[in-house]
Amino acid sequence: MSDLPFLRCENLQKWYGGVHALKDVTLEFGRGAEVVGLLGDNGAGKSTLIKILSGAHRPDTGRILIDGTPARIRSPRDSMNLGIETIYQYTAMAPQMSIARNIFIGREPMRFNWLGPLGLLDRKMMNRVALQALRDVDLHLRSADTPVEELSGGERQGVAIARAMHFRSKMLILDEPTNHLSLKETTKVLDYVSALRAQGVSSIFISHNLHHIYPIADRMIVMARGAVVAELNRGDLTIEEVARLIV
Ligand SMILES: Nc1ncnc2c1ncn2[C@@H]1O[C@H](COP(=O)(O)OP(=O)(O)OP(=O)(O)O)[C@@H](O)[C@H]1O
Ligand SMILES: [Mg+2]
Repeated sequence: MSDLPFLRCENLQKWYGGVHALKDVTLEFGRGAEVVGLLGDNGAGKSTLIKILSGAHRPDTGRILIDGTPARIRSPRDSMNLGIETIYQYTAMAPQMSIARNIFIGREPMRFNWLGPLGLLDRKMMNRVALQALRDVDLHLRSADTPVEELSGGERQGVAIARAMHFRSKMLILDEPTNHLSLKETTKVLDYVSALRAQGVSSIFISHNLHHIYPIADRMIVMARGAVVAELNRGDLTIEEVARLIV
């Protein structure tokens, strides 16, 4: 096992106009498979950090290293190709597209023209692989042709997690994945995250619900006003003490 963290970000700063959303953030994730809870009040900079790691935004300063090597993350595809899969509650999916297409999204062949990128792909194969990937996360759907918009929130999370597992991502990032999910669906997402860790996949888990994060996190990082204010290992503080740290 390598001693290097899978991901290291150094001195990240981000301004949105006059808002200093990230202030010199240096963090490491995935020195061995781990679940890291990312905590902090509204506007702390959590999503900004995640958007930079997932290629949706670019930092103004700083750099990101993957396995110790400086990485170029200029688009979500770059991030995915480096093994980072990001799950948001709503935005990760193309809702009108089928489950199968959503599983393969961002991984279509590079050579295509505007007439039909999927002309080069074998739809039958995609559907078969998608159904198996879903079965692997215990989601038993009859067809992968169903548009994602016909799925429940929990099933959508399942599709995103199936994608991460199928393409053997190195790191899963979940930004508020349990918002608007039922208790049962939430439990399932938390179980997936633990199962992924057992398979060597690290996760960064953002939630306002400490009761979701605390039981599964190996570490917790607390942000406030764009900066990291605490890094805790499992057991350092009780859940009540962590809660007091956030507000
Ligand atoms: N696209 C944007 N344009 C301008 N300001 C932004 C933008 N995105 C975020 N901000 C600002 O940057 C700061 C950090 O926001 P961010 O979304 O990272 O917070 P967060 O920790 O994810 O909060 P929450 O828990 O509410 O999701 C906030 O002050 C926010 O208003
Ligand atoms: Mg956020």
